[in-house]
Order: sequence, then structure tokens, then C-alpha cells
Amino acid sequence: MDCHVKDIKLAKAGKTRIEWAYRFMPVLRTLRERFAKEKPLKARRISGCLHITSETANLAITLKAGGADVRLCASNPLSTTDEVAASIAADYGIPVFAVKGEDRKTYFRHIFQALEHKPDLTIDDGADLVTTLHTQKRALLKNVIGGTEETTTGVVRLKAMAHDGALKYPIIAVNDSQTKFMFDNRYGTGQSSFDGILRATNFLIAGSVVVVAGYGWCGRGVSFRAKGLGAEVIVTEVDPVKALEARMDGFRVMKMMDAAKLGDLFVTVTGDINVLDRKHILAMRDGAIFCNSGHFDSEINKAALDKMTRRSRPMRTSCVEHELTNGRKVYLLAEGRLVNLSAADGHPAMVMDMSFANQALACEYLVHNSKKMQNQVYKLPEELDRQIATIKLGSMGITIDKLTPEQKAYITSWQHGT
Ligand SMILES: NC(=O)c1ccc[n+]([C@@H]2O[C@H](COP(=O)([O-])OP(=O)(O)OC[C@H]3O[C@@H](n4cnc5c(N)ncnc54)[C@H](O)[C@@H]3O)[C@@H](O)[C@H]2O)c1
Repeated sequence: MDCHVKDIKLAKAGKTRIEWAYRFMPVLRTLRERFAKEKPLKARRISGCLHITSETANLAITLKAGGADVRLCASNPLSTTDEVAASIAADYGIPVFAVKGEDRKTYFRHIFQALEHKPDLTIDDGADLVTTLHTQKRALLKNVIGGTEETTTGVVRLKAMAHDGALKYPIIAVNDSQTKFMFDNRYGTGQSSFDGILRATNFLIAGSVVVVAGYGWCGRGVSFRAKGLGAEVIVTEVDPVKALEARMDGFRVMKMMDAAKLGDLFVTVTGDINVLDRKHILAMRDGAIFCNSGHFDSEINKAALDKMTRRSRPMRTSCVEHELTNGRKVYLLAEGRLVNLSAADGHPAMVMDMSFANQALACEYLVHNSKKMQNQVYKLPEELDRQIATIKLGSMGITIDKLTPEQKAYITSWQHGT
């Protein structure tokens, strides 16, 4: 088997994790059963650059059941679950190139390896695979009919490529489906960020001051989970509407420079750079803990932190103490990388179920429709989004009302009123 994993002997432990996740993925299960019969991805070659987790394994197995030839690499050097990677290769025969803790060079070599079968579809999370394809592997572009993108930051990058005329094939922004961002970004990141923070620190959230940078879908989730755990929550924002929303949701809102002096724990979820910069870190209290749950490790200025660090030492797994030049000690989690995936398992399978159902349906949609599409970034059609929500509700034993013909006529007409 063509693969690079930490240790193939870890496969047994990985397989049970994959099976455990699958229990909580009823929408993907429905699709897998249909894909196995209909083979909508027959003879399609798919390169996937995703966090190598048990949920991703289930997506890859579903795509393979649909007839695809899949190769996988990691979308973050720290987010691979090594036993899962081993099982994907050993038990499911899917070539995977991912080792937790891989260096930058290996990370990009793995992307090259995931592209070796000359894909006609790409699945990306953060757009590193697509940008690599467009810059270093351009000869492969002619085979590609379309791609999908999983996360907000990747969608932002791909829209910028489309705007510049640089994008050479159509992309479906899976992130922009309602059944993705409203659940994965909000409830997934909200809960799993605290999973990572607690594993790395065993810190008591109740009674602490938690500062959340960014009040987008992820930030809302992190803020509400912090509040639910008993924290006093401060939100920082640059968008006045989001800031207002945070205030009316009951959170304190202020500039990061003011929040820096008050926070016990900081979580960045902006997709931006240097949100926690030198001056903020210098203003923090002794003992402050900070981490990032946004896509790239650029939200915390690690270079500045290193420069003002007199001494550092690991305290626990994924937690490093920095003794600063001002004498205070502060704690960075998971090297400033996605704390939920680096220090914990990432999102629960229950939300990835919907995100990855979107991925599978987006691949199928591209097979049928890519010829009619421009080299732009698209949303998945709303009826597919609603189909996913309907299957999910069904799996939860929930049925909802349907519009009566009378109601439908009323709601869609402009003639009614007082
Ligand atoms: N940890 C995960 O598993 C996970 C899951 C989904 C998305 N993400 C990533 O999390 C990040 C946020 O995603 P989202 O869907 O919430 O995006 P979003 O666009 O909905 O929200 C980002 C928010 O950050 C704000 N912001 C930007 N710069 C800021 C700054 N300097 N200070 C304060 N606020 C600032 C924006 O105004 C916006 O409201 C992205 O990088 C995304 O890719 C991570």
C-alpha cells in the first residue's frame, strides 16, 4: 500500500475509532448505502486534503463506496490521528500520507503524494492543496473538473483566486451550506475547542474570564460554550454588526488591548493574523493561557512571543510555558494551531456527519454539473442542503410540519395583508 503513516500497526485501534464515529453519522450512512449501489463517482480520482480524523476516514470510505479512487493527505501538520491514518490505509486500502507533527517540508511532500494519481476532483480544507496545484503542479490542472472546500479560511482564499482570475476550475464552498457552518463551525468548534483546552490544561472554566476573538460562526459557538461552563465572556471584534450581536447576546465587548489585561483564557477564531500580538501578550496577567481555533496558526504572533520569551518549557501535552522578559509566565496551547484538532479529536462525528454529507453530495454534483460551471466558487444548491437537514432530523426521530397548500399560497403571495 502506497502510504506514509506513523505506524501501520496502530490500525486496529484506528478501526474501532472509525467505527465509533460512523455510529454517529446517519446522513453519511444513508449516502454510503446509495453510493454503493449507484456508484456515482465511478472511476473518479479524488485527492483529499483534510484533517485525518475518524470522521474523514468515513467520508473517504463513502467516496470509495461510490466508486472513487481516493488519496488523502493532512490539512494541518498537527491534526492527524495516527491510528486512524494507519487504519485508513491498512483496513480500507486508501492511500494516506499524514503523520501527526510532520514538519512543513513533509506536509507539502504529502500534498504532492496525494496528487500523484492525477485527480479529477479535489477536496480541500484551507486551500493548501488547491494552491499547491495551481502553483507547483499546474500540469495536473487539465484533468481537474472541480473541487470542494471545507472551511471559511479556504473559501476566502479561493474567492480571492477566482476574483484574480487565477482559479482554474469550479469549487463548491461546502462551508457555505447552512447544514455546515451553522452546526460544524458553531457547535463543533464551540465544544471541541474546550475539549482541547481542557485536555491541555485541566483548567476550571467556571469563574474564569474567557476572551473570544471573533464573533463569527465559530466565535459564537466558543462564546456560548464558555458561558455555559460558567465563564465571564469578553468578545473582541472588528465588525460593528457582529460586535453588536455579541453585546446583545449578553457578552462584554471591548478592544483586545483592554481585554488582554482581564482574560484568564484567550481563544482566537477570526481567520486573521496577529490578533494576539506582542503588545497584547505583554499586557496579559501572569498565568494567562491562550490558544487558537481558527484555521491557520497565524492568529497568535508566535514569532513575537518567541522573541520576548526568556525561557520556555512544556508543562503538559500541548501546553508550553513562556517566561516573558517582563517576568510573567503565560501559556500557549497546541503551538497556536487549531486547538480542537491538535489537543483533542476535533469536532464530534454528529456535526461532521452533515459537513461530510455536503462533501459527498458536492462531489456527486460536480460530476454531473461541472461542465456547466465557471471557474468560480459556488454554494451547494439549497435543496441538497435541506435534504441533509431532513435526513438528520429523521435520524433524530423528529418530524416537522409541512406547509398546507393554503399556507404556501399565502406565504408566496404579495396580495395578502390586513
Ligand atoms: N477549529 C475548527 O475546527 C474550525 C472549524 C470551522 C472553521 N474554522 C476556522 O475558524 C476561523 C473562523 O471561522 P468562522 O466560520 O467563524 O468565520 P467568520 O467569518 O464567520 O467569523 C470570523 C470573525 O472574525 C472577525 N475578525 C476578523 N479579524 C478580527 C480581528 N482582528 N479581531 C477580532 N475579530 C476579527 C470577523 O469580523 C468575523 O466576524 C476560520 O479560520 C475558519 O476556517 C475552524
